[in-house]
Amino acid sequence: MPEADKEGERYQADKPQAAPGFFLKGSHQLDWGMKNRLARTFNPASGRTVMLAIDHGYIQGPTTGLERVDLSIVPLLPHCDALFCTRGILRSVIPADSTKPMVLRASGGASILKDLSNEQIAMDMEDAVRLNAAGVGVQIYIGSDYETQTIHNMTRLVDAGLRFGIPVMGITAVGKDMKRDAQYFRLACRIIAELGAQYVKTYYVEDGFETVTASCPVPIVMAGGKKLPELDALTMAYNAVSQGAAGVDMGRNIFQSDAPKAMIAAVNAVVHQNAKPKDALEIYKTLKPKG
Ligand code: 5RP
Repeated sequence: MPEADKEGERYQADKPQAAPGFFLKGSHQLDWGMKNRLARTFNPASGRTVMLAIDHGYIQGPTTGLERVDLSIVPLLPHCDALFCTRGILRSVIPADSTKPMVLRASGGASILKDLSNEQIAMDMEDAVRLNAAGVGVQIYIGSDYETQTIHNMTRLVDAGLRFGIPVMGITAVGKDMKRDAQYFRLACRIIAELGAQYVKTYYVEDGFETVTASCPVPIVMAGGKKLPELDALTMAYNAVSQGAAGVDMGRNIFQSDAPKAMIAAVNAVVHQNAKPKDALEIYKTLKPKG
């Protein structure tokens, strides 16, 4: 017989086991591995993430600021919550002793020389597992000629991700002539969530962004877009998180800044501490001389 009988008090039978929920919107019914990867990507204390996006080379080659990822990005790693990159950069440049969660670009097949929306799945989920990825990202072009193809790319990745416990970030990609407004992003984000992505990356819009986050049942992270003056980028991030975004996945506004380390510190203050844009700009200015 086990010794349980004489150690009854060690079982604390009067205390029900806690059944905690989960801090991220729409994620409470996911499996443990999926939740654990999300909890590494999003900071459980703030419920938000500062993900650094450096995947641009997958369509546009050596983007300004990413010519030497080893020199420009590796020093920023300690200052982000997660890195969004391609598996090529991960294997060739990102130190494997980094404990940062890596979210991997899993779509590709187009370049800036042609129609960007003509993408395919560009990475097997098995490789994401091999690389210990915290998630994968895939572009969805709602309203483009390749709408169905890009949605299908995502749903196949979602199925594979569910098999392995790897979350999928669905990215709302906007074609050149498409209108970037709340109505469009409500449509795109909702479709992406309905079809199974665990979180969505989308652009900020001045009017009605809160309706985009409210109608999306999973977390939204804000995409940065083209380089803006620092105060404008910090204001955009502030508005996005104030209006329901669970953080940012920003690239050019960080790595094309004159002082990327100072800029990522300012973005962190906005995202995790609700710093006001002007206060975050002061953080940027104070740290700027250090690079
Ligand atoms: C576009 C992407 C990009 O490849 C990238 O992540 C964008 O980052 P940023 O616009 O902040 O430079 O996902 O949808």
